[in-house]
Amino acid sequence: VPNPTHMANAYDGDHARLDPAVSALIQRRETVLAPSYRLFYRKPVNPVRGEGVWLYDADGERLLDAYNNVPAVGHSHPHVARLVHDQLGVLNTHTRYLTEPLVEYSERLLALFPEPLSKVVYTCTGSEAVDLALRLARYRTGAQGVICTSHAYHGTTAAAAEISPSLGPNNRIGDHVVLVDAPDLLREDPGTAATEFAQRVDRAIEQLRSRGVGLAAMIVDSVLSSDGVQDEPVGLLAPAADVIRAAGGMWIADEVQSGFGRLGAGWWGFSRHGLHPDLVVLGKPMGNGIPIGAVVGTVDAMDRFGRDIRYFNTFGGNPVSIAAATAVLDVIESDGLIANARAVGGRLIDGLGQMARRHRSIGGVRGSGLFVAVEFVIGADRSPDAATAGMVVNELRERGVLISASGRFENVLKIRPPLPFAAEHADHLLAALDDVLTTSITPTTSS
Ligand SMILES: Cc1ncc(COP(=O)(O)O)c(C=O)c1O
Repeated sequence: VPNPTHMANAYDGDHARLDPAVSALIQRRETVLAPSYRLFYRKPVNPVRGEGVWLYDADGERLLDAYNNVPAVGHSHPHVARLVHDQLGVLNTHTRYLTEPLVEYSERLLALFPEPLSKVVYTCTGSEAVDLALRLARYRTGAQGVICTSHAYHGTTAAAAEISPSLGPNNRIGDHVVLVDAPDLLREDPGTAATEFAQRVDRAIEQLRSRGVGLAAMIVDSVLSSDGVQDEPVGLLAPAADVIRAAGGMWIADEVQSGFGRLGAGWWGFSRHGLHPDLVVLGKPMGNGIPIGAVVGTVDAMDRFGRDIRYFNTFGGNPVSIAAATAVLDVIESDGLIANARAVGGRLIDGLGQMARRHRSIGGVRGSGLFVAVEFVIGADRSPDAATAGMVVNELRERGVLISASGRFENVLKIRPPLPFAAEHADHLLAALDDVLTTSITPTTSS
């Protein structure tokens, strides 16, 4: 049955099980917000405060946040709050005035990228950055065609939505867009997944040519999160990127999910795979919740567009957002959060791997650093089991642990906590998950 909400883990509209205050607030919200919005969970969460890896519900319940990547350095981080507050009280203008912190942050940010990625443009959101990256690639190549994965999500602008098939069948994919299936590490041979992916990309380039639109770019989320978190083996995306470059297209690395150290292997997901993108899209964790995104690119990708067309984003890169972004780099570096993501993510993945040996409903455990996926399957043919994934997500929420589900079949747990997630938090999550699987899955569903 197709999911009528077109989103995994969406609230189903049933008020019966809700606390009266939550139910009343949902009713008020539905009265004023357009029906585009979705809430998470059968019992939606109503947080009123966040601190570190914890959220506090209106009724005082403490919830372990193992889902949110935007508060990368933790909810309500005092250093972020201080720099943003101080800047807001002094000056908040725009990039048409000369301000030193913008230059200083840009120097610091670009030092985290390999050559020749040496220029940056600021936006407010990941979607705007995706949109701009597409414009840059089209302008540079003179072609219109774009390739993306068949369950990708890249954002909300008209151009970004046209390359976001995970929005469901009612969201129109552009005429100049060809979709390719992402590697599926549970169902494909990991030894050949990279070359088979590159072959699919090669066929997609042919399709674009036969449509007469040519190839401008391929855009890929470097951790393929909405395609179910497909991250292994390292180098998985490299043959596809080679095919794109050989055909004269640009590789756009969407680092909105994988960037800023989350994968515990350097700063960027593309470098983990040994890729050399032309353009890199940044967002979500960059400002710990203050809107800031960016496109980082090569001089070749950016130069002519920049000279021929002006780009001014009113709020993009303003002093307050730069203050937030500066604070994020400070904390990632001073608190060693990339090493933490590697260590704690490793502990979590090991623990989940052990659990998979005891619970047959777990078909696979994947992930890198603090981007972790658990795939549920059912039956002798190990078909995708969205019902169990949905049950687990909601049962964990009942136990005070927040995660969600994703993937083409909505059967993959998405575990993606703030980066200060510590060993004790990983153990807490593992114990809660073990309890859910032990108490809630009957032998028939795990057969
Ligand atoms: C991979 C990816 N790209 C782009 C975006 C769009 O970012 P934003 O919501 O900031 O516009 C998202 C948001 O979820 C994303 O996950």
